[in-house]
Amino acid sequence: MTNVVLGKDLWKTYNMGEGIEVNALRGLNISVDKGEFVSIMGPSGSGKSTLLNIIGCLDTPTKGELCLDGQKTSTISEHELTKIRAENVGFIFQTFNLLPALTVMENVEFPMRNLSGSKKPNKSTRIQNAKAALEEVGLLDRLNHLPNKLSGGEKQRVAIARAMVNHPKFILADEPTGNLDTETTQNIMEQLHSINKEGTTIIMVTHDKETIKNTRVLKIRDGVIET
Ligand SMILES: Nc1ncnc2c1ncn2[C@@H]1O[C@H](COP(=O)(O)OP(=O)(O)O)[C@@H](O)[C@H]1O
Ligand SMILES: [Mg+2]
Repeated sequence: MTNVVLGKDLWKTYNMGEGIEVNALRGLNISVDKGEFVSIMGPSGSGKSTLLNIIGCLDTPTKGELCLDGQKTSTISEHELTKIRAENVGFIFQTFNLLPALTVMENVEFPMRNLSGSKKPNKSTRIQNAKAALEEVGLLDRLNHLPNKLSGGEKQRVAIARAMVNHPKFILADEPTGNLDTETTQNIMEQLHSINKEGTTIIMVTHDKETIKNTRVLKIRDGVIET
């Protein structure tokens, strides 16, 4: 078993009422191996975010099967899924999605609070881990800043630290450089590649050809992956 993500015949149908249905995914197949860096490209509305949300268990497929690390997600309870998500998945978004009332430090500490039982570190370990993650992205001098005092690139580096603080099996990034200039984009891509080299699988949705270097590119169109 080398794949961390295996999606078979994934369908996602949104029911819009009055008999109108939107098929965001139409029998999509995807397999991602441990340690890969995969880029997903495709036109707006082709189903990229829907796919990422399903892989991250933020949403469920209408039909089809998703296996994470060899485990069928359809047979797992909602409670277990929340646990799997907290332990295994890091999310990075185009709009950063930092909590505005929390400091940089508190934002990065946050995912560790969602761990349960013996996996949840105590306060001092949480602070230590958050600092280590922020050091990796070069933000130790911003610990007590609120997000609105940071540049876009800094915000995304906080989001990267937050995504990796629980040492997830994989990171899902939905257009992580979509709001950033060219130079900042390069910096963020370097950070992501360095995390990938340490063994974390990365699946990234992107529009920017500059960001797909040294990744495996999958093209999605009308809810399926083009071969
Ligand atoms: N919550 C939703 N309700 C209804 N339709 C949706 C919803 N989310 C996405 N869609 C539709 O599904 C299709 C794929 O959307 P999305 O996955 O966001 O595409 P992309 O990320 O590639 O731009 C689009 O037609 C979109 O309008
Ligand atoms: Mg999208």
